[in-house]
Amino acid sequence: MSESLATVSYLGATILFILCLGGLSNPETSRRGNLYGIIGMSIAVLATVFGPHVGSSGYAWIIGAMVVGAGIGVYAARTVQMTQMPELVALMHSMVGLAAMLVGFANYIDPGASAHMTGAEKSIHEVEIYLGILIGAVTFSGSVIAFGKLSGKISGNPLLLPARHWINLAGLLVVIYFGREFLHAHSVSDGMTPLVVMTVIALLFGVHMVITIGGADMPVVVSMLNSYSGWAAAATGFMLSNDLLIVTGALVGSSGAILSYIMCSAMNRHFLSVIGGGFGTTGGTPAAAAGGAQPAGEVVPIDAPDTAELLREAKNVIIVPGYGMAVAQAQHTVYEITRLLREKGVNVRFGIHPVAGRMPGHMNVLLAEAKVPYDIVQEMDELNDDFPKTDVAMIIGANDIVNPGAQDDPNSPIAGMPVLEVWKAKTSIVMKRSMASGYAGVDNPLFYKENNRMLFGDAKKMLDEVLVALKS
Ligand code: TAP
Repeated sequence: MSESLATVSYLGATILFILCLGGLSNPETSRRGNLYGIIGMSIAVLATVFGPHVGSSGYAWIIGAMVVGAGIGVYAARTVQMTQMPELVALMHSMVGLAAMLVGFANYIDPGASAHMTGAEKSIHEVEIYLGILIGAVTFSGSVIAFGKLSGKISGNPLLLPARHWINLAGLLVVIYFGREFLHAHSVSDGMTPLVVMTVIALLFGVHMVITIGGADMPVVVSMLNSYSGWAAAATGFMLSNDLLIVTGALVGSSGAILSYIMCSAMNRHFLSVIGGGFGTTGGTPAAAAGGAQPAGEVVPIDAPDTAELLREAKNVIIVPGYGMAVAQAQHTVYEITRLLREKGVNVRFGIHPVAGRMPGHMNVLLAEAKVPYDIVQEMDELNDDFPKTDVAMIIGANDIVNPGAQDDPNSPIAGMPVLEVWKAKTSIVMKRSMASGYAGVDNPLFYKENNRMLFGDAKKMLDEVLVALKS
């Protein structure tokens, strides 16, 4: 393939990636967006493999690597549970970081890569390598820790070292000092020591950055690492002089940064404070992933037939899905119930919290899969004022996102996080298996409110029973 045809293909792929992002911003156009992304990526891969920079001797390596990579990808995509998606995404981010690191080292060692460069051009190339490895290493180790936290292999409790901000600052100064040493190195072996020292510090920084973050703030970390992986890819693009990788990396990096900002606003957090670590820790209630807090007060249980009765008599119903709906895979039954109630003239809507579940858009994906109409799926801000006019708020496997303690208890680890005000409805019904806490590990005062009922059991099983009772 000629140089100009490869450039045109890259341009086409770039446009398709931008259209892809545009499509993904709305559930109705997201399928089309995905299709644009797939076509764009296919063009990009073909134009790179058959482009002017790959000789025929490289084909065997590339095809071998693609077969292994595609095999692992297909296996992971087929076997991973929907609830494990956030961990898988974190793991994939770590791969982007690892690739940037390895490309950086390979590029530095390769005698051919900078042989033709002199003066400023060589310095710029070395800065690219240094920054590329730095970003890649932070992304790699941070994503591995995020994977551990999201999968429960590492405790969700933040690990707070004394003087952690000073440690970060010292690390930054050492990285700047060794950056200078690296640029002044006369040979590859001279430059290797500062490069390796910086890589070790960057890896430790990535670990430290994520391990200090409390369970409740993990959504921000997930989107932040998404952004970092984009910048790592862009850095790889600079090192390899590949324009498409630079553009694609910048698209992922900037959209991830925007998402992080949205997540921070949704949780009422300051971006820099979350990166600085230690959120989700203040006050008397310890944050612990899955489980820790003790129940306080009496709860009123309800059974499926009585729940069906309340729903049948209601005029306005708001359903609030959470992580438990994803675990139980209850979305199809939720849709059946919604359809039945709407046929009976009940106004049913869905209230979606920005951090419900374990990844951005988690609930929207599940509801779209179950074919729930988009126009009755609303954001928290759109319907939070409507709860006082609502007869039944049905909470399906959600916990932290409906915790009134976020508003009432300044000592709560989730204090200040906006929540869906379900307790303002005439009756709220919480569907979950036990009194266990949610991801942030805090007790939920909602359960003990006078107008709240607890429907204990697996969400799918209980909703099946409610559906049977509604039909009878
Ligand atoms: P959670 O607060 O985690 O609560 C989920 C509840 O679902 C649990 O209390 C659990 O109680 C219940 N549950 C689990 N399996 C169930 C089943 N089979 N049937 C019925 N109930 C079941 O979830 P949420 O309200 O969606 O809030 C999300 C939390 O995750 C927030 O703290 C958020 O910060 C965090 N987080 C979000 C993200 C993103 S990007 N969305 C990423 C990382 C972390 P039982 O065990 O008693 O059933």
